[in-house]
Amino acid sequence: MSATDLEIVFDRVNKSFERPGGSAFEAVRDLSFTVARGDLVAVLGKTGCGKSTMFNLLAGLIQPSAGTVRVQGRNPYRDFDWFRSKVGIVFQNDRLMPWRSALENIALGLEINKMPRAEREAIAARWLDRLGLSGHAQDYPHALSGGMRQRVSIARAFAVKPDILLADEPFSALDEVTGNALRAEFLDLVRDTGATSIFITHSIDEALQLGRRILVFRRPARLVYTAAGGNDVASAARAKIRAEILRALADEALEERETIP
Ligand SMILES: Nc1ncnc2c1ncn2[C@@H]1O[C@H](COP(=O)(O)OP(=O)(O)O)[C@@H](O)[C@H]1O
Ligand SMILES: [Mg+2]
Repeated sequence: MSATDLEIVFDRVNKSFERPGGSAFEAVRDLSFTVARGDLVAVLGKTGCGKSTMFNLLAGLIQPSAGTVRVQGRNPYRDFDWFRSKVGIVFQNDRLMPWRSALENIALGLEINKMPRAEREAIAARWLDRLGLSGHAQDYPHALSGGMRQRVSIARAFAVKPDILLADEPFSALDEVTGNALRAEFLDLVRDTGATSIFITHSIDEALQLGRRILVFRRPARLVYTAAGGNDVASAARAKIRAEILRALADEALEERETIP
């Protein structure tokens, strides 16, 4: 694989936060991984292991303390404006603007990219339709259920025709039935668009269902295990992968116990 096929590169990345009192807290340690164009990667790890910190580095919202993050060969923090037009982001909480209708929320990225109103509203309306919300164009977020709000935020991410799609636990705040339905739709959309996708989750089932590749992280965020996922994996292999993932995650508990004085 040539370097140009690599959409995302993390190379020995560290991220420390300053704690009150001046001590440093290490959230990401020596993290290296690459993602090829068009790949669908699930990042799996326990709560607090540093997944969202990695996500924020990837989304150009924060800078690494050491090491390099590259997206399409560029620095997402420094080239944030360039980057914004290429990337669709879905967060755990929908982060919709309460003063904008569903339609206006979906059109937000297009507006930032300076698309004329009529054009962006036509695109937003198509995405509303696609996510089963055509009757809700003029509704404000407070009038929508949690599942509907998350649909709007998914539509907003896809509406910009992103090269890269980043999702940080987008379904973990939803009930199971709603979450399952949205997960399946999300997977269809990712497949249709062919966007390079990174999906963060703390659920092994969700990682196995969504990721063609699964990266298992341990605290502080570093890569400890890589597995194959997705529908192509036969069920016997899946059981073995699941057991190995569980072991990779469980070793952490052992390690934590061992470090207690
Ligand atoms: N801005 C910050 N300042 C200080 N500590 C932070 C900050 N952001 C995250 N952390 C700490 O980094 C660790 C990893 O957090 P996070 O990346 O949110 O984990 P995850 O998404 O895997 O649950 C946590 O212990 C958290 O408290
Ligand atoms: Mg998180």
